[in-house]
Amino acid sequence: TKYSIAVIPGDGIGPEVVAEAVKVLDAVTEPAGITLDKTTYPLGAEHWLATGEVLSDETMDKLRGHDAILFGAVGAAPNDTRIPSGILERDLLLKLRFTFDHYINLRPATLYPGTTSPLAEPGDIDFVVVREGTEGLYAGNGGRVRQGTEHEIATEVSINTAHGVRRLVKYAFELAQKRPRKKLTLVHKHNVLVNAGRLYQETVNEFAPQYPDVTVDYLHIDAATIFLTTDPSRFDVIVTDNLFGDILTDQAGAVTGGIGLAPCGNINADRTAPSMFEPVHGSAPDIAGTATAQPVASILAAAMMLEHLGHEDLADQINQAVRRDLETHGNEQRSTDQVGDHIVAALKAA
Ligand code: NAI
Ligand code: MG
Repeated sequence: TKYSIAVIPGDGIGPEVVAEAVKVLDAVTEPAGITLDKTTYPLGAEHWLATGEVLSDETMDKLRGHDAILFGAVGAAPNDTRIPSGILERDLLLKLRFTFDHYINLRPATLYPGTTSPLAEPGDIDFVVVREGTEGLYAGNGGRVRQGTEHEIATEVSINTAHGVRRLVKYAFELAQKRPRKKLTLVHKHNVLVNAGRLYQETVNEFAPQYPDVTVDYLHIDAATIFLTTDPSRFDVIVTDNLFGDILTDQAGAVTGGIGLAPCGNINADRTAPSMFEPVHGSAPDIAGTATAQPVASILAAAMMLEHLGHEDLADQINQAVRRDLETHGNEQRSTDQVGDHIVAALKAA
């Protein structure tokens, strides 16, 4: 079997962590007789500075032809005035998500043995956030009138379609049913956001009878942030909108021992375009070039990519190797490539 993979290493630590993810991918696929045919695309802040191109339609067409995209991170240092603010977010990251219809933003949160949570009693943290990826407050539906005057009005109107909510909720139920605890928590704010909130709640209510073995729960977003620090083990699958999901998954990264361990899948579950897998973190310009970046988030994202391609067994091998590696070496000072080498060794020892 052969897959064609687009690799977008990006800026800063992006190329450093992606190199380790590729190392681990090759180590797990080659013995299984699977070939990953990789094409690297130089996109990001440095590419824009060198060429003036953010992401051309020609490049989009090429990307569309791949089976999946492995992404590092893009962006310059926040104080780098050479890059106009928001251009990479809007014209690169959001362009990819919207054009390739990545309507599922999948973010697992796991507390691994050997990693330390800042929580006093973290318990067993193992949940996954199914965040909506193409609608809500990220739809860019708004504007500014009387701009610059004291009577200015800025609007940012959340878009929530029945189609968008249904495909999200259905995906979340299917995922909950496959997991041992089979619990689905809708997180929203339907007491105040009565329009969008009720559409979400009614959609969950409508699907629930088709999944009788899935326990359904509901929390307002504010309460959810409390429980995420006081009782995170109560969560299994969380389904939520685009902005709530963004905030909740940063918090989830923090309680599970840090941003260097959190992966993300931008998934088109209908497979009409390639899905994209990346660490949650950014390009970390503050530590770029020091070989101290933690590559585990990128390695776990690569495992999610293999699962999406239908190789759950190989994904599981990577996840187990990461688990064993963190258990053994989690608290040691290691360089980026040492972590990759150790995880490859853990794979081979299995
Ligand atoms: P960041 O995630 O890059 O860094 C935040 C902090 O976490 C920094 O102190 C960094 O050193 C640390 N950190 C991040 N990843 C780490 C890792 N793997 N190992 C060890 N430490 C790690 O977020 P920040 O600083 O807000 O953004 C930096 C640049 O990245 C900006 O240009 C931003 O726009 C971009 N960015 C890109 C994203 C993407 O490509 N999807 C996502 C988030 C930010
Ligand atoms: Mg974020």
